[in-house]
Amino acid sequence: MCGIVGFVGARQAAPILLDGLSRLEYRGYDSAGVAVVTPQGEIDLRKAKGRLQVLNDMVHGGADLDGCVGIGHTRWATHGVPNSTNSHPHMSEDGRFAVIHNGIIENYAEIKEYLIRQGIHFRSETDTEVVAQLLEFYYNKCHDFFRSVGRVLRRIKGAYALGILCADCPDRMIAARKDTPLLLGFGDGENFIASDVTALLPYTRDVVYMDDGETAILTREGIEVFDPLQQPIEKEHHHIDWDVSAAEKGGYPHFMLKEIFEQPDALSRAISPRIRDGRVVLDDMKLTAEQIRSFDRIYIVACGSSYHVGMVGKYNLEHLTRRNVEVCLASEFRYSDPIVDARSLVIVISQSGETLDTLAALREAKARGAYILAIVNVVGSSVAREADDTLYTFAGPEIAVATTKAYSTQLAVLNLIGLAFGETLGAVDPTEYHEAVTELERLPELARQVLSRCDDIQEYAAANFNHSSVFYIGRNLDYALGLEGSLKMKEISYIHSESYASGELKHGTISLIEDGTLVVALGTCGRLFDKMISNVIEVKARGAEVLALTTESRRDAMARVASTVLTVPDTIDLLLPNLGVIPLQLYAYYVALQRGCDIDKPRNLAKSVTVE
Ligand code: F6R
Repeated sequence: MCGIVGFVGARQAAPILLDGLSRLEYRGYDSAGVAVVTPQGEIDLRKAKGRLQVLNDMVHGGADLDGCVGIGHTRWATHGVPNSTNSHPHMSEDGRFAVIHNGIIENYAEIKEYLIRQGIHFRSETDTEVVAQLLEFYYNKCHDFFRSVGRVLRRIKGAYALGILCADCPDRMIAARKDTPLLLGFGDGENFIASDVTALLPYTRDVVYMDDGETAILTREGIEVFDPLQQPIEKEHHHIDWDVSAAEKGGYPHFMLKEIFEQPDALSRAISPRIRDGRVVLDDMKLTAEQIRSFDRIYIVACGSSYHVGMVGKYNLEHLTRRNVEVCLASEFRYSDPIVDARSLVIVISQSGETLDTLAALREAKARGAYILAIVNVVGSSVAREADDTLYTFAGPEIAVATTKAYSTQLAVLNLIGLAFGETLGAVDPTEYHEAVTELERLPELARQVLSRCDDIQEYAAANFNHSSVFYIGRNLDYALGLEGSLKMKEISYIHSESYASGELKHGTISLIEDGTLVVALGTCGRLFDKMISNVIEVKARGAEVLALTTESRRDAMARVASTVLTVPDTIDLLLPNLGVIPLQLYAYYVALQRGCDIDKPRNLAKSVTVE
């Protein structure tokens, strides 16, 4: 997500922090900030919205900040719009602590309320500020920097990589990590923290990766690392021999592959803050139960992969809410004279939040009186600003043009909405609701299991990358999943591909199936599995080569008819597209790799489509 850099040494910290942050710019950000401890024992903090250059100019390349211990941050907004107040570092009220943070503090609202009751004043809308304020609160009781950090870490829930300065301890910095990457860099008489090794390459290649629950104290002389019980531990050092471009991609050859592998973490960020005590709790949504009950029409409006999320969402939302859901391409919706009024809910889905067609559809629906609920990745984007309500996906910056982790997190958020609405409307069976919540919590781990088998897919792609045309077939949720699999294939490998509802093949398309045609048969959903088997037999009889995707428990049955079978772990039907999409992303990726395509920047495509 955001970028973190920290420095402790004998040199002026700020120019090094700014240089480190510039090496993280490729990740995307909306504001930046630095803080140092001055020789007078005060914290000097500067931050600015926009490009790093704005901050750089403001502090004359760092020359204005006097101090040899400091932290720097580039922010990708999650809580609170992008502006200089919400950007990091955040200070405690008395200015004693400065904090940079990547991740999400899930219980920040409750801690913030508590601290406000204790008379503490907050400046920003962020979850991070509670860490700074809570530190001050505990420090005022014990006057011990390290102990205060320990108490804070025991109190907060969620994911974090933290860099912390204390004005009373001008020789040191404390770092902590849970579920968000953070590494320590060892220099000569100077030491570093960073969220990403790219930031450190000009300074050191001797690094230690922090593990969950660990804290570290950094001084000029060295770095001490502590386990979750604050006992000192020895860590293995790694020598980084990647070049800068490999380092930006975290060692992956392409951003797309890196982002495919980031899906379990991205899913955790989208799901875990929204499940509490076995229930879906959408604190970040303003819609009331009364409003939810008042809608007589639900639309999902989006483009491209976000529209495909809507296709899955239609099946799931209709099932969970027993309300009619219509999915519309944004570019069509706006010109279709849609039947939308004050009793309509329009769910708008967009990774970038800037897609012109989607924005235009949103405005059209709003003008007709609809309530707009947006599912967006980029905080503060146009869609997020103009919607009545926004649920963020927390996928982190997506750099590859072909979306992967944004698709997965959008789907997860739509399922959370379905469950929350279903419960409010009394439409979902309580047993099914509880099972769905439990399975949603397991989803990141299940996604990890799918990714662990990526070698099988690479092997298959190595032998199957030269088809001139590929057909994706499936029924119901598997049909919706096929739309995304097919789009991934065509956009990055330039192979012609189509997605069909299996039952529709016989009405025309089956005439295109001939000897050697590749058919990707999606048969993950249990309810329609037998029907899919018949469709596989049907295309095999016409000479098709069939790559099938099903669940582990159905592998044998599928293997009796398909040429090759890939599997995902069993879970409830509702969530299978979330797992099934991963092998399809990987297959498209490895095919494109074999064909030597420009995977991260496919021809004719842009990451954000701001033209009609
Ligand atoms: C495909 C892809 C596009 C986008 C579409 C909408 O991999 O990325 O199809 O899904 O352009 O973009 P957003 O979600 O930003 O509105």
